[in-house]
Amino acid sequence: MTSFTYSAGPARVVFGSGTIFALPDEVARLDASRVLLIGTHRAEPARTALGSLAVARFDKPTMHTPVEVTEDALAVLHEHDVDCLVAVGGGSAIGLAKALALRTDLPQIAVPTTYAGSEATPVLGQTADGKKTTIRTPAVQPETIVYDVDLTVDLPANLSVTSGINAMAHAVEALYSPDANPVIDQLALDAIRRLARSLPKVVADPKDRAAREDLLQAAWLAGTCLGTVSMGLHHKLAHMLGGTFGLPHSETHTVLLPHVMAYVAPASMDRIADALGVGDAPTGVYDLVVDLGGPISLKELGMTENDLNTVDEHRPLLEEAWAGDRPHQTGLPDVSKLTQQVVDSMHGDSSRTRALLQDLVRTLHSYVVRNDLTESEWMQAISFLTRTGQITTETRQEFILLSDTLGISSVVDVLTNSRTPDTTPSAVLGPFYTEGPPEREHGYDIADGLPGMPAWADVQVIDTHDKPVADAIVDVWQSNEDGFYDVQLPDLDGPVLRARFRTDADGRVRYWSIVPVSYPIPDDGPVGEMLRAVGRHPYRAPHMHFMIAMPGFHTLITQLFVKGGDYLDSDAVFGVKDGLIVDFPEQHGPTPDGRDVPRWARVDFVFRISEGQ
Ligand code: BEZ
Ligand code: FE
Repeated sequence: MTSFTYSAGPARVVFGSGTIFALPDEVARLDASRVLLIGTHRAEPARTALGSLAVARFDKPTMHTPVEVTEDALAVLHEHDVDCLVAVGGGSAIGLAKALALRTDLPQIAVPTTYAGSEATPVLGQTADGKKTTIRTPAVQPETIVYDVDLTVDLPANLSVTSGINAMAHAVEALYSPDANPVIDQLALDAIRRLARSLPKVVADPKDRAAREDLLQAAWLAGTCLGTVSMGLHHKLAHMLGGTFGLPHSETHTVLLPHVMAYVAPASMDRIADALGVGDAPTGVYDLVVDLGGPISLKELGMTENDLNTVDEHRPLLEEAWAGDRPHQTGLPDVSKLTQQVVDSMHGDSSRTRALLQDLVRTLHSYVVRNDLTESEWMQAISFLTRTGQITTETRQEFILLSDTLGISSVVDVLTNSRTPDTTPSAVLGPFYTEGPPEREHGYDIADGLPGMPAWADVQVIDTHDKPVADAIVDVWQSNEDGFYDVQLPDLDGPVLRARFRTDADGRVRYWSIVPVSYPIPDDGPVGEMLRAVGRHPYRAPHMHFMIAMPGFHTLITQLFVKGGDYLDSDAVFGVKDGLIVDFPEQHGPTPDGRDVPRWARVDFVFRISEGQ
């Protein structure tokens, strides 16, 4: 049983490029007009943006927020009758604004230029007489955060790395926090994923704006974790080492993180490994830091062996971190070198092919390790794929069926064809389409008298400006009353229940068919075996297929599902989308074309297609 209490801190976040120019509006939103601008030279763009609103400036924020510095800034604040604080920079500038807010209750706007995340927390650390104390109170949480990617592109690579790993530490500890909850878990995992993918890009090219944007979003997410749930051993040790031995903040976080992860070895480690894209999370973080050229030992940060000997707690962990050894693994063997060798072995002309294969290798290696796959399980998988190939013929494509039943076809379809909400959603093609179906006139009965409830289809094709598309080719196909397509029935004199129509001047097509019924996909092969092994049925929700083609437009391949039909929420190939479920209301009166049937159904639908190739 998971139980949790979740409360989110209030926060207004303005994120983007050039957002520094939103500062005057953000100051006005806080009903303020006299700003104390806090920050070193990094605050210059904010000074320009604020113009005459910046009535005072404090440019000496100091690490660990010493109270003497806060007193100096307080004097400046009083002297200029300030009513708002704007802090631009890293932990020192933002910490000072928090210390001032605590004493004056003035509103704050934080403009972070590093990734440490203090801007998103109600936490303030201060030092007095060399002693650091931390308080947690909503009074110090900045009212507004302005994230401007432009201000981060100059952050040197080494600071980006340590500050980014500092952010990762917030996310990692959030996942095993006693206050962990599903919302923060998702933020934490997304932060870790973004950090792992963007830090190498930023080290390769500190001006890579897309990577900088990814990193800054990760910083916000990780900062939100830090501000919402309590942190654990890692933060406690980093705090202790910083306070006792004066070790630099983000560097200490960077060195400690993999060692604490290996020591704590929480149940969440698998999810962290997954987000990092590695088999083992602690060594994954260590290797990432090594690859990024970050610090790996407390020794190199200036901690002496004598210092180390004065610490009693967590000695094995700290000794490992002091020496910079690769942390011990948490159970599973480390195959990262082997994975890297395979990844590095991939060359070739197409960078897309290379990238896809490299990621496939990483994903598969990680899958094998995470599941501790046995040799016999792997042989079972190989035998399954072999049989999938063996049963495949011209007319039976078991690999596509496998892709369909694993939902992969639908995911690829969503990525390729359903990216815009302006057009009718697409759905998988399926194996029963045939090229060049018979061309029919409007009003034709494509069921050719086969049994089933007659259905009058009246569909229209329009473009994204709601203009009818005339002369579009509309191919339709569906199964018979028993759930079979004509191509599955060799004795049938087909083709039947399939046709090609052309839209008229109003973009419309009208024809007779029958109301579709649910049917099983072929389940007498390996795919059926798989479905049975995991307690799944092979049925598809009742549907009609459509392929709509028109030069100058994207071809739309989709299906209409019968509202109230079986299996709508457990379709075997995951093809059902809300926008494709339509009513087939039963009718008893006269038919549109005078056909004499006592009971019939009708289906009306408008397809929207978009221009393009
Ligand atoms: C179909 O609807 O025809 C279909 C789609 C995917 C797999 C099997 C059948
Ligand atoms: Fe179908």
